[in-house]
Amino acid sequence: MRAKHITWHESKVTKEDRQRLNGHQSMVLWFTGLSGSGKSTLSVAVEKALFEKGMRTYRLDGDNVRYGLNNNLGFSAEDRSENIRRVGEVSKLMVDAGLITLTAFISPYREDREKVRQLFSEREFIEVYVKCDLRICEQRDPKGLYKKARAGKIKGFTGIDDPYEAPEDPELIIDTGKLSLQQSVETIIQHLRKNYDIS
Ligand code: ADX
Repeated sequence: MRAKHITWHESKVTKEDRQRLNGHQSMVLWFTGLSGSGKSTLSVAVEKALFEKGMRTYRLDGDNVRYGLNNNLGFSAEDRSENIRRVGEVSKLMVDAGLITLTAFISPYREDREKVRQLFSEREFIEVYVKCDLRICEQRDPKGLYKKARAGKIKGFTGIDDPYEAPEDPELIIDTGKLSLQQSVETIIQHLRKNYDIS
């Protein structure tokens, strides 16, 4: 049952105050793509590059968040939607806290990603489509999960017998089948420098 009789309390320290203190705007870099496309690897490398430039960052990763906050969720369509809804809300808190937040979730459904986008202003939400052919993801198979899915040992695996709806108009597309990790990181950092309030 939903809570009634609740009241919003304003803080005396605002998001803008925190951004001023940090010397950069806060935002969420939302990495989406197939398992094995490189979301986690890329978000780790981009976070490190931003951190080394003195920015305040935090990273939320699908597998990691499923150990804790979302350990009651599986991979049904309903659970994946709830996973993304919660991560969207956590990201919103982190953006409010002044952080450059990087999320690495398959987030297979367009509608769920659009709902998250609606939580932010235009300059705060950057959808990064980590594009990579299923064939390549399957060759990489870093966790051996595609093999299990093909063998029928995992049901409802994204890209095999569960859908992935590619973004139609993402802020950035990074093709990890063509670009090196270093090139991918540089493309993202340059895009941020050019279009957002980070120095
Ligand atoms: S999402 O679909 O809800 O966004 P999320 O990014 O949190 O997924 O988790 C994906 C990770 O869970 C994969 O990288 C993989 O390690 C693992 N996994 C386990 N089962 C599945 C499945 N059925 N489909 C996709 N990923 C799975």
